Amino acid sequence: MHSRLFSALGCALALFAAKNISAETVWLDQLDLRSAMQGYGEPHKNRSVEGNPLTIGGKVFKRGFGTHAESILHINLGGGAQKFTASVGVDDDVMGNAASSVEFFVIGDGKTLWHSGVLRAGNAPKDCAVDLSGVKELVLKVGDAGDGIDWDHADWADAKFETAAATTFATSGEALPPPIAPYILTPAAPATPRINGANVFGVRPGSPFLFTIAATGDRPMTFSVKNLPAGLTLDPTTGHITGLLKDKGNFTVVLGTKNALGSAEKKFRIVCGDQIALTPQMGWNSWNCFAGAVSQDRVQRAADALVKSGLINHGWTYINIDDYWENHRDSKDPTLRGPFRDAEGFIVPNSRFPDMKGLADYVHGLGLKIGLYSSPGPWTCGGCAASYQHEEQDAQTYAEWGFDYLKYDWCSYGSVASGKITNVLNIPLWGKTATNDEGAIYPYRLMGKFLRDQHRDIVFSLCQYGMADVWKWGGSVQGNSWRTTGDITDTWKSMSGIGFKQDAAAPFAKPGNWNDPDMLIVGEVGWGHTHPTRLTPDEQYTHISLWCLLAAPLLIGCDMEKFDDFTLSLLSNDEVLAVDQDELGQEATCIIKDGNLRIYERALANGSRAVGFFNLGIAPQKLAFADFAKLNLAGKQVVRDLWRQQDVATVDTAKDSLPLTIPAHGVVLYKLTAAK
Ligand code: GAL
Repeated sequence: MHSRLFSALGCALALFAAKNISAETVWLDQLDLRSAMQGYGEPHKNRSVEGNPLTIGGKVFKRGFGTHAESILHINLGGGAQKFTASVGVDDDVMGNAASSVEFFVIGDGKTLWHSGVLRAGNAPKDCAVDLSGVKELVLKVGDAGDGIDWDHADWADAKFETAAATTFATSGEALPPPIAPYILTPAAPATPRINGANVFGVRPGSPFLFTIAATGDRPMTFSVKNLPAGLTLDPTTGHITGLLKDKGNFTVVLGTKNALGSAEKKFRIVCGDQIALTPQMGWNSWNCFAGAVSQDRVQRAADALVKSGLINHGWTYINIDDYWENHRDSKDPTLRGPFRDAEGFIVPNSRFPDMKGLADYVHGLGLKIGLYSSPGPWTCGGCAASYQHEEQDAQTYAEWGFDYLKYDWCSYGSVASGKITNVLNIPLWGKTATNDEGAIYPYRLMGKFLRDQHRDIVFSLCQYGMADVWKWGGSVQGNSWRTTGDITDTWKSMSGIGFKQDAAAPFAKPGNWNDPDMLIVGEVGWGHTHPTRLTPDEQYTHISLWCLLAAPLLIGCDMEKFDDFTLSLLSNDEVLAVDQDELGQEATCIIKDGNLRIYERALANGSRAVGFFNLGIAPQKLAFADFAKLNLAGKQVVRDLWRQQDVATVDTAKDSLPLTIPAHGVVLYKLTAAK
C-alpha cells in the first residue's frame, strides 16, 4: 500500500494552482506541464523541446508547449472549459529534417475531437479550435505519424482554453490506475528438488570456470553431473562446478540433484568457445539503491542476501559494484579521497574497498560472480577516477582481482574524444556521420580488446545509453550487452517509456549480445535514500514480464537485505525467468498495437511462443483474443499462464478465442505450445 500512497502524493504535487488567471482565458503554459509524457527531452513552456523560441514554418510564437512525440498530457477539465484553441506544428529546430513528421490529437473523454493530419518540418502552423462543452478529461496527444519519433519536435503554440470563470486545471502525463494491494501469483517452489536457471552456459578455453547449479527444494541436497568434461569438478554438497576447459567444444551433461523427498535431473549444455553470456546476465547492481554510498561491506552483505533469500536457487549470479569504488576528484567525503592510481598507474580503490581481491574471493566462494564499473573518460559519471589512458592496466587489474563483469559507462569521454578519433575502426556505420560514430565506438573497441586479452571471462556491458545505434555494433567490439536508453527510475512513465520502445534494437539480440533497457526497479530502491518502489503491483508484473520478453539482462536494483515477499515472488518465478533465459535468445517485439493494448511475442527454443498482453490504460481491459495468425500460431495450442504456472486453456486457433482480463497498467503473460 505504501507505494500507492507515494504515487498519490506525487500526483498531488503535480497539481497546479493557477494564480492570476483571467476569468476567460487559461493559457496552456499556465498549467503544470512537467508531468507530460514524451518520447524525448523534457516538456518546455514557451520554448521548443530544445529550448529555442517556439517557431513553426518561420512564424515565432511567444506562448505554448514545446514537446516531442510521442507526447501525452492529461488535463482534468471537469467540464470547466468551453473551448481550446492552438496553432500546432513541427518546430523549426529540426531544420527541415525529412524524418520529422507528427500528428496532433485533441481527445475529450476518450473521443478524438480534433486531429491535425500529418504535419512535417517546414509546414505552416495549423489552427485548431475545439468545442469542449461538458468535457471532463482532455488529452493532448502528439503521435509519431507512424515513422518513429526521430526529429519529432512538436509545438502546441498559442494554446489556450476559454473558461466561464477563473479556474485551475490539474495535469498529469498519465492518469493513475486505482490503488491495489500487492498480490502474489508465483506458486511456492516445491520441497522436492527442481533444477532451475538457464539450459546453457558459455565459457572460453583457458578461463577459470564457475557455474552453480540452481536448484530449489528442501536442504540438505546433493548434486551430481553426468558426462562432466575433463578439467571440471563438481562439489556435490554446494553444486558449484569449477575448473578449466582447455579446448573448445560442446558438451551435453546431465545435472542432477537429490534430497530426502526425491531427485531431479536436467539436460544442460556447456559451450566452450568464443562467446560468453549465452543467456542474459542475472544478478544485482549497487546503483539503484546505494548509488554513491556503496562499500565493500554493503556489497558483501548483498552477496549474502542473494544466497539467504534463495534467489541463487533461481539462477541469479552476479553481484555488481557500480560507480564510487574509486577515489573521487573533489568529494568532501574523506572515504572517497585518496590517490587515483599507484606510481605505476594502476587504479587504487577508495578506502571503502580495502580488499578487492578478498571481496571477489568471498563472492566466488558463495558460488556467485562479481562485477564492477568504470568509464572510458578520465572521470566516471559520479566524478571518480576512470579508465582513460589506463584501459589496459585496468583490464589487467580487474582480472587479477578476479572480477567477472565490467559495466563501462560513457561519462567524460566526450571531453577527450572530440576530433581525435577518425577512421580507425573499419566498422560499417549504417549511414550515420562517420567521425561521430567512430568516436562513439572507439573506446568500447579498445576496452573490449583488453578484456579479451585477459585469461578470464569478463562480461562486457556497455552503458552509453544507445548512442550511435549501439545494438548494431556492440557485438563487434566484444560487448555482451549494451544499454539502449538513459537511466530508469521507479515510475510508470520511466519504466513503460523505456520498456515499450525497444523494437528497433530487438533484431540485434542474440546469445552473447543483449539489449539492456536498464536495471530493475522493484523492491526498496532510491539511489542513496531508499523507499518502496513507486510502481503499482501490476506495473511491477508488467516490468518483470516485459524485461523477460525483451531478453534483457536482469539486474536487481534494490536493497536485498530489505526484500519483502511480494518482491521476492516477482524475482523467483522460474517459468517467467525461463522466458528471459531461453537459449534461442530471440527478443520479443510488439506484434499488435491497438488502443491501450500491446501484444509482445517471442519464439522459444522448444517451438513454443511467449506472449505478453499488456494494458497501458488505467482501467482493466477485457477482450476475446482471436488474431492468432498475427502471432504465427496455428492449430491447437495449449495456453499456460506463466505467473500462475498453470495451463489455463487449449484453444483451436481456427475457431476459438482466448478470453483475457488485463489489469490496469498490467499484463497477462502466456506461453502457447502446439497441443500434441
Ligand atoms: C550513469 C549510468 C547509471 C550509473 C551511473 C553511475 O551514467 O547510466 O546506471 O552507472 O552512471 O554514476
